[in-house]
Amino acid sequence: MKQATFHQLQILEAIARHRSFTRAAEELHLTQPTVSQQMKQLTQLIGMPLIEQLGKRLYLTEVGRDVLTASHAITDRLQKLESTLNDLKGLEKGRLSLATTTTAKYFVPRLLGTFHQRHPAIDVQINITNQAQVLERLARNEDDLYFTGRPPKDLDVELRPVLPNPLVVVAASHHPLAQETKPISLKRMAEESFILREVGSGTRSIVEQFFNENRLDLNVVMEMNSNEAIKQGIIGGLGISVLSLHTLSLAVAGNPLTCLNVEGFPLQRLWYAVYPKGKQMSIAAQIFLNFLLTEGRQIVEKPI
Ligand code: PGA
Repeated sequence: MKQATFHQLQILEAIARHRSFTRAAEELHLTQPTVSQQMKQLTQLIGMPLIEQLGKRLYLTEVGRDVLTASHAITDRLQKLESTLNDLKGLEKGRLSLATTTTAKYFVPRLLGTFHQRHPAIDVQINITNQAQVLERLARNEDDLYFTGRPPKDLDVELRPVLPNPLVVVAASHHPLAQETKPISLKRMAEESFILREVGSGTRSIVEQFFNENRLDLNVVMEMNSNEAIKQGIIGGLGISVLSLHTLSLAVAGNPLTCLNVEGFPLQRLWYAVYPKGKQMSIAAQIFLNFLLTEGRQIVEKPI
């Protein structure tokens, strides 16, 4: 394996992404025979097939997936090294890797336009996934900064509150309860058909905790792992849900969704930027964090 070259691993990564030798060759500006030749040599070195073809599709074998995981770790380490070297040279450039929950994605990308104009040499990558997986990434120290609405309980972290995160009860605009002017009781709410986020979602944990504390069981009709899908479910008459206000654009005329006036709501939470305690922040990450804390809220809350 020590004879495998970084170039061969890059080719394997490109093939895995495109599931095609031709497109991998195009991306890397190589000819297809070169790509095939390099993969043949890598396979011989490892002594087991890395790729298999079923019909027209290419798949990595189990060994191929192991090699790919190792290759990602090497690429990641080299990128971090590059950022460290840039920091040592005092350069405002490098790679900034952010991980946000599927709900925080409604505001984090909005900051990037201004940030990119000011620091065009900083490459930003955003990884979007649910809260449990964001916290797994945090535990593995995979990114520079993490965004979530629920601070992790069992990890030693620095927490920076970024902006308010109100959670509201969302219903279709034509829902009978939408016309209620007096606050709707929680008991009444618990009778409604409810669409819940998947296990691992931060929104779900907050909702479950709130209804548990009030000793009420929700009448869950369906679980979905996407805020957008839940909104469509609500519009389609499947039920109601509790979502972050950031997922909604209620100001749009003729909006098919509305917030219900329910006792105890909105649940007033916060969005946090989080990173492991003692983490050696790159210059790019420090610049972003500073930008976020000084201007983030103003940019996100600016009327569109
Ligand atoms: P999620 O995130 O529901 O999209 O996982 C919400 C949060 O971070 O609290």
